[in-house]
Amino acid sequence: MAAVGSAVGLGNIWKFPYITGENGGGAFVLVYLACIAVIGLPIMVAEVMLGRRGGKSPIGTMAMVAGSEGRSRGWAGVGIMATLTAFIILSFYSVIAGWTMPYILAAVGGEFSGIAAEESGALFGGLLASPGQLLLWHSVFMGLTVLVSAGGVRHGLERAVTKLMPALFVLLLILVGYAMTTGHFGEAIGFLFRPDFSALTAEAVLVALGHAFFTLSLASGAMMAYGAYLKKDVSIARTSVVVAFMDTGVALLAGLAIFPIVFANGLEPGAGPGLIFVTLPVAFGQMPGSSFFATLFFVLLLFAAWSSSISMLESLVSYLNEKGVSRVKAAVGGGLVAWLVGITTVLSLNEWAGFTPLGMFERFEGKTLFDLYDYLTANIMMPLGALLTALFVGWKMKPAHSAAELGSWHRVWYPVVRYLSPIALLIVFYFNLK
Ligand code: PHE
Repeated sequence: MAAVGSAVGLGNIWKFPYITGENGGGAFVLVYLACIAVIGLPIMVAEVMLGRRGGKSPIGTMAMVAGSEGRSRGWAGVGIMATLTAFIILSFYSVIAGWTMPYILAAVGGEFSGIAAEESGALFGGLLASPGQLLLWHSVFMGLTVLVSAGGVRHGLERAVTKLMPALFVLLLILVGYAMTTGHFGEAIGFLFRPDFSALTAEAVLVALGHAFFTLSLASGAMMAYGAYLKKDVSIARTSVVVAFMDTGVALLAGLAIFPIVFANGLEPGAGPGLIFVTLPVAFGQMPGSSFFATLFFVLLLFAAWSSSISMLESLVSYLNEKGVSRVKAAVGGGLVAWLVGITTVLSLNEWAGFTPLGMFERFEGKTLFDLYDYLTANIMMPLGALLTALFVGWKMKPAHSAAELGSWHRVWYPVVRYLSPIALLIVFYFNLK
């Protein structure tokens, strides 16, 4: 359940719809689903398996498992990169998660009732234009993350996830139900599921791949760290399949809820990171009981983001803890640095919106610091970390050892992670570097 809490978050409800909109829909969704099945799921199995074998922080686990396989302890580098990836993600994730809080207040105050698309856009624009507000909510969210992380309350987290995830699911179903009444549901289905491969670029494939890792919390130490707590008698493969299914289900529901509203209100699918924050208030505003549903939704979104951000800090905290630093000190210290870095994301949305440090390269044209953190982690560090993980379990670890962890699933998993996943990863890299 903690792994589900980690996987289901802003990635599903905020990021998936907006990158699908930016990358033309159907073909992108299909590639994303293929990436989940062929690369994401096998890598998740690998990470949870390594985590359980090592029983330590991701850095400690990689060093230990590599050592016990008679390989270089330099494989700990995979853990170091993962920890760094999670850390960079946390810095901007906290800023975005912070947006849910002013939205909760607005929902409670009934501000969405009957709201038109332009007003909703203006409300969101106003939030982004205010560094002070963004900083305030970023600080509150980071504080919440540090609080749980410092306490090490995995059990409380699991109990909460068991109750709140189903609620989020039901609420998304209600939203999809509303979306069906807009008269644009068919159009949205077509957009999401009718692939038009002529709209697919090599970069879109990379974005789909990167998102498969991001949304499943892979190559960031999160799954490895949680794997360390998994009991011996639990099936790793079955657990991973459940997590991947739930995660994908939530993302697709979010897409089905949002795009009909986008089309019905003449909004732009490629509007970017504000997509759900502009569209959903319009939908809520037209529903009976708007204030209730909107409040509940943004509270659940905040919670989903929270259970993800806690897992981002876990790699670092568990590592420092191994090195003798208390959980409290590690969580506060890590949270503080991530908070500081997060301020550059706050500014990227307003004062520094024109600051594009790598703008001279075509690929990074127009990308602010925030865009670069996102790009660097999801599209470069995560695929690279996943490739190294696949190479390690597929070529450096004795198959008998992974088989002992995975049981009969090993027969299917092993050839995939040994050949199919690395080759698919290399192909995507090749077409993007070409
Ligand atoms: N999977 C989370 C989401 O979709 C994000 C995440 C990435 C969490 C990396 C942990 C580690 O929102």
